Amino acid sequence: MTSLPEGPYTNPAIARPLDPSATPSSKISCRRLAKVFENVGRTRGGFAALSDVNLEVREAEFLSIVGPSGCGKSTLLNIVGGHVRPTAGVVTVDGQPVSGPSKRVGMVFQSFGLFPWRTVAGNVEFGPRVAGLPVDECREISIRYIRLVGLERFVHAYPKQLSGGMKQRVALARALANDPEILLMDEPLGSLDAQTRETLQDEVARIWADTRKTIVFVTHNIDEAVVLGDRVAVMTGPPGRVIELIEVDLPGAREPAARRYSPRLLEYKSHIWDLIRRAGATLPGAAYGGVV
Ligand SMILES: Nc1ncnc2c1ncn2[C@@H]1O[C@H](COP(=O)(O)OP(=O)(O)OP(=O)(O)O)[C@@H](O)[C@H]1O
Ligand SMILES: [Mg+2]
Repeated sequence: MTSLPEGPYTNPAIARPLDPSATPSSKISCRRLAKVFENVGRTRGGFAALSDVNLEVREAEFLSIVGPSGCGKSTLLNIVGGHVRPTAGVVTVDGQPVSGPSKRVGMVFQSFGLFPWRTVAGNVEFGPRVAGLPVDECREISIRYIRLVGLERFVHAYPKQLSGGMKQRVALARALANDPEILLMDEPLGSLDAQTRETLQDEVARIWADTRKTIVFVTHNIDEAVVLGDRVAVMTGPPGRVIELIEVDLPGAREPAARRYSPRLLEYKSHIWDLIRRAGATLPGAAYGGVV
């Protein structure tokens, strides 16, 4: 096995220098983003969570973002989703500046965020109902996405009757039911056991292949980032910044099952670990192989 070279940007096959200028084909463009949280009670003058973040996400791309806890991954995702305003810089979707949440951008969180008083169908059809679609159409949409995530037997179940993995599937179906062009996923599989996590990784990859959404997927898990992503953005911080963008070139087309067992996965993994170590980040999960 050939090992990856030392240092960022030295191997053009896997590491590309960051280009702060937008490319015309970018679906999402983050330019010179900074975020300072004021009045957090620990730093006079505010706390810099992000600094000079430049990131281009291509149309229909699966971009993974990996980085240690507290480096600003969620903050970045929330800015892209229009839920948090940047202190400086600009985010555009299809060239239009993001000024708030939009139906074109869906979010899936680790905490599921399901309505406990609604059934699976009730949760999934919530978005289309709010959008004012006719009841029959809402039902049709919800059934379609419930099928897509394999929960047709649980249409009438309530969240408390579901396992963690099933709740996560409902959250995914609910986001997809709004038919967003972009799906932002913040550690959506983080709370699941290893086996359920792999099953859902397979499902996320299949759904991405079927729907060709642009997906930005935040994870602590380096293996997951590489197995699922077209590219991996490696972040460190705070203040959070993207230190490298890595093109993933693994055998097995886009089948996670094949990519998971590729020897080259280990090369990507050790390269990303090196990057994070050299950036001086603490590695609380080092003992757990691939979790930063
Ligand atoms: N609303 C807020 N007010 C003040 N500080 C915040 C706020 N949100 C985030 N921060 C701080 O910004 C930094 C980045 O937080 P963020 O949640 O983006 O990190 P993260 O990379 O998603 O971490 P994790 O992997 O643990 O989820 C942290 O130090 C956090 O304490
Ligand atoms: Mg987070």
